[in-house]
Amino acid sequence: MKWNGRIATVLILLIFNLSVASQDQLNDGNYGIIPKPLKLQKHHKWMYISQGIDIQNRSGDWNTNRLNTYFTQNKLKVGNFFAKKIILNQSETYEQEEYALTISLDTIALHFSTQTGLNHGISSLLQLLLLNNDEGSYIYKLPLGKIEDSPSFKHRGFLLDCSRHFFEKETILKYIDLLTLYKMNVLHWHLTEDQGWRIAIDKYPKLESIASKRTELDGSEYGGIYSKADIREVVAYASKNGIEVIPEIEMPGHSQAAIAAYPHLSCTGKQVAIANDWGVFKEIYCAGNDSVFTFLEDVLTEVVDLFPSKYLHIGGDEAPKSRWEACSKCQNRIEEEGLKDEHELQAYFIKRIQTFLNSKGKEIIGWDEILEGGLTEGAIVQSWRGVEGGIAAAKQGNKVIMSPTSHAYLDYDLKAINLEKIYSFNPIPTDLSSDFHANIIGGECNMWTEHVPDEKTLDYKVFPRILGMAEALWSSGEKDFQEFRDRVQVHYAILSEYNVNYGSESEPFYYEIFTRRDSMFIAINSLDKNINILYQEKVGYRFNTTKEYKGPIYLEKDLDLGVQAYKNGKAYGSVEYIQTKIHKGLHSAVTYQDQYSPYYTAGGDTGLVDGKIGTLDFKDGSWQGFYGTDAEITLTFDSVIEIKGVELNFYQYINSWIFLPEGVKIYYSKNGKRWKLYEKDTNTFKDKNKTRGKSILGIQYTNEKKTNAKYLRVSIKNIKKVPDWHEAAGSDAWIFMDEIIVR
Ligand code: ACM
Ligand code: ZN
Repeated sequence: MKWNGRIATVLILLIFNLSVASQDQLNDGNYGIIPKPLKLQKHHKWMYISQGIDIQNRSGDWNTNRLNTYFTQNKLKVGNFFAKKIILNQSETYEQEEYALTISLDTIALHFSTQTGLNHGISSLLQLLLLNNDEGSYIYKLPLGKIEDSPSFKHRGFLLDCSRHFFEKETILKYIDLLTLYKMNVLHWHLTEDQGWRIAIDKYPKLESIASKRTELDGSEYGGIYSKADIREVVAYASKNGIEVIPEIEMPGHSQAAIAAYPHLSCTGKQVAIANDWGVFKEIYCAGNDSVFTFLEDVLTEVVDLFPSKYLHIGGDEAPKSRWEACSKCQNRIEEEGLKDEHELQAYFIKRIQTFLNSKGKEIIGWDEILEGGLTEGAIVQSWRGVEGGIAAAKQGNKVIMSPTSHAYLDYDLKAINLEKIYSFNPIPTDLSSDFHANIIGGECNMWTEHVPDEKTLDYKVFPRILGMAEALWSSGEKDFQEFRDRVQVHYAILSEYNVNYGSESEPFYYEIFTRRDSMFIAINSLDKNINILYQEKVGYRFNTTKEYKGPIYLEKDLDLGVQAYKNGKAYGSVEYIQTKIHKGLHSAVTYQDQYSPYYTAGGDTGLVDGKIGTLDFKDGSWQGFYGTDAEITLTFDSVIEIKGVELNFYQYINSWIFLPEGVKIYYSKNGKRWKLYEKDTNTFKDKNKTRGKSILGIQYTNEKKTNAKYLRVSIKNIKKVPDWHEAAGSDAWIFMDEIIVR
C-alpha cells in the first residue's frame, strides 16, 4: 500500500495526542475522579503538603473526619499552625448535593451548602490524594485545579442481600465507606427472605431463635442476625457518611423464614422449614388473616424506629398466588373487599401496609409487581423486570427507581453484564416522554447473594462494576467508555487500600461464529489486550494438545473446544467450553409462531440456526427462552434437502422455572402447504420434570424413511404453568432451546 499523506497526519496526531496525555499526567496530576465531575479545570502545577495541614471549619460544625483520618494515618498533622489549609465555605447558593473544590498553591477551598455536599467534596479530595501519592513518600501533593460538581440523579443505590448470605457488620461498614467514596447515596438493605430473617425484633423473639438460622442441605447450620445495636451503629455510621439506609422487609412473598418461626402467618398454618435452596417459594403471608397484619405492623413499628429514612422497602416481588387461591380466608377477603382476583388481593395487601406506614410518616418502595392490581399514590416503584414497570409507574405520576436485570444485576456474570454494559446504563428509558423524566429519581445496582458466600466473593462481584453504576447515576453528558475505562485503571490501587478483592471488567474472552461464502469460522476475542487464549479440541472423549489461538478457526465439522485465557502468564478466569455444530439448517430462514422472550433471544431470529450450542450457564447468550407459551418454529432451506435427522437440546433448571417440554412434534414439507409428520415425542419427558440442578437434555430424532424437504417445522409444547408440587406452582413456565440441528 502506498503511504498516504492523510493517514500519516492522523498517525502523527495520534502519537502527539498520546504524548500530550502522558505529559498531562506528569504536570497536572491525575484527575481521574469517579464518578466524573460535571466541570473540571486543571492547571499545570502542584500543591505540596509536607508536615501538616490546617482545616478551617469557619462556618459551623462540619464533619471532616474522613479527611482528618486520612491525614493522620499518613503521618500528616492537622493543626492551625500549618500554612497549607483547607477552608470550608458554606453557602446557601449551592444545591443540597452540590460542591466546588478549588486547589491552589496554599489553599484547598470547599464550597457547599450541606454536609452532603461537603461529603461529596471530601470524596473527590480523598480520591485526588489517593490517586496522586505514592505510598511511603512523606510529601503529599495535589494537582491544582477546580471542580464544580453535582449529581444527575438523586437516588443512587446499592442493594445488598444479607439474607441469602449473612455479612458481618464490619463488611457493611466497609461498603458504606466505598459507597461514600464513589458518591452513591443509598444502601438498600435486604433483610428478610425465605432463607433467613436478619433483623432482631423484640416482640417476636423466634425471628432470631428460629428464622435467622437454616439447616443446609448437608445438615450444617447457617445463620446470622443484626441486633438492634448493630443496626443503630450501621445507620449512624452511614448517616455520618451521607448514606441513607433503606431497609427492605419483604412481603407478601419471600417470607418463608418468618413463616417457619410463626406458622400462623401462612394460609395453611402448617409448620415449614426455612428454605435452604434458591428460588421462589409458595409459602407467603396469608392476606385473609388479620393476625398477619398485626404481626407486620408490630414488626414495622420496630423497624421504623431504627431507620430514620423516609422510605421503607416492602418488597412485593415474586409472590406465587397458589396458596391464596386455595385459602378460604384469602377468598373471603377477595369477596368482602370486592376484589377481582389474587392480583388485586396483593394490591390490597400492599395498600394496607402502605396506609399503616404512611401513618408512621413513611413512604413505601416496592418492586414493579406492586403495579399489578393497581398502584397507589405515593408508592415508589423499583423496576427490575426490565424498565416497562418503571415506565408505566412514571406515567401514572409515581416516582421510579430503575434497576433492570439487563444492566443492574451484579449477581449476573460478566458475560451478561460487564463494566461497559453497566456504564452504558441510563435510568431514563429512551422511549419515555420527557414529561415524565422527573419521575425517574435514579437507579440501583442489586447484589443478590445466593452464590456469594463471603466478603471476598462479594467484592469480586461488586467491583469494579459498581463504578460503572456510580458514574451512570452521577455524571451527565456524553458517554465515552474508553475514557472511563482508563480512569478505572488507576482506581485499582485505591480499591486495594480499602481491602477490596476486586474482580474483572469483562469476561476474559468471547466468541463469535461467522460465515464467509460457504465456510464458517469461529473467532475468539478479548476486550483486554493483555490476554492470550489457549485452547484444546475435544476428539472423541478426550481433549488433544493445547494450541495458542492466533486467528479464526475454520469449522469443517462439529467442534468442541476447551478455552482458557491467560493474563500476565497466569490463568485468568476458568476454562470455558464452546460447542458448535455444522448442520444443514445453518442460516436457513426462520419464522416463529410464538415469540421468544426478549430476555433470552440467543441472538435473535437466527439464534436457533447459528451453529452455537448452549452451555450449562443459561445466561450464556446461546439459549432462546419461551415464557408461558409453546414454541413453533419453521425453517425454510435454500432448496430441497435430504433430512437424515433432527437434534434438539432442552435446558432444565426447575429452580428458575425452566422445564422440559410436554412434547415435541416435527413436521416437514416440500411446498410449505402440505405437511407430514416426521416424528412425535411425548415419552422422553415423562416424569423427568422433578430433576434438581441444572442440566441439558439432548435428543436425536431420526426417521427410517428418506425425507426430502424444503421446510421443517418444530412444534414444542410447553407445560405452560409451573406444576402444583413446585414452590412456584402456577407461575408461567419456561422452555429453553439453543439450536435446531438438521442432519
Ligand atoms: C428481584 O430481583 N426479585 C427483585
Ligand atoms: Zn390465606
